[in-house]
Amino acid sequence: FRIAVLISGSGTNLQAIIDAVQAGRIAAHVGRVISNRPDAGGLERAAAAGIATEVIDHRDFERREAYDQALADRLEAARPDLIVLAGFMRILGAAFVARFTGRLINIHPSLLPAYRGLHTHERAIAAGERQHGCSVHYVIPELDAGPVIAQAAVPIHPDDDAARLAQRVQAMEHVLYPQVVGWIADGRVQLGDGGVRHDGRIP
Ligand code: GRF
Repeated sequence: FRIAVLISGSGTNLQAIIDAVQAGRIAAHVGRVISNRPDAGGLERAAAAGIATEVIDHRDFERREAYDQALADRLEAARPDLIVLAGFMRILGAAFVARFTGRLINIHPSLLPAYRGLHTHERAIAAGERQHGCSVHYVIPELDAGPVIAQAAVPIHPDDDAARLAQRVQAMEHVLYPQVVGWIADGRVQLGDGGVRHDGRIP
């Protein structure tokens, strides 16, 4: 089972997945890491783990469709069974998503369907929520709206600021994302016509 991971930043979720593969908790191989930013810290994490890396810089492309096409072509060359978006901060167009439907997942820092989009921690605090969290979902063209595979909740404390809350959520992301990737690698979760299908043994 081959995994490709797309990143834009520090790659702490990528690291959690690498660690889980190395510990034997994910029965898969991370074959490639692609970043749209040459300075993404996650590229060093990948290199340190001996994973092939590639930068496809969106600034080299005039149109979003051309970028998506280049990214899709490079990805296909790696023949991934699963493409994991891990802090990949580019919106992927409908044509790209259609090409990889059912093989494309993302982690989003909120309890979807609440707080799609950016600045989720600030918005959850401002709304007076008492709970927040993260969701792993299949990607569809509509942003952060695809079928949710699994979620994990954390409390919001009265004295929280966005940074503290983000830290608490991210610690949870690093548990949830490897777990879901492991389920998919084991064939226990799939995207069916009616949404997410799983084998019934998932907590
Ligand atoms: C995570 O908080 C994720 O939910 C969001 O971007 C962040 C990526 O962090 N989409 P990292 O690059 O995995 O450290």
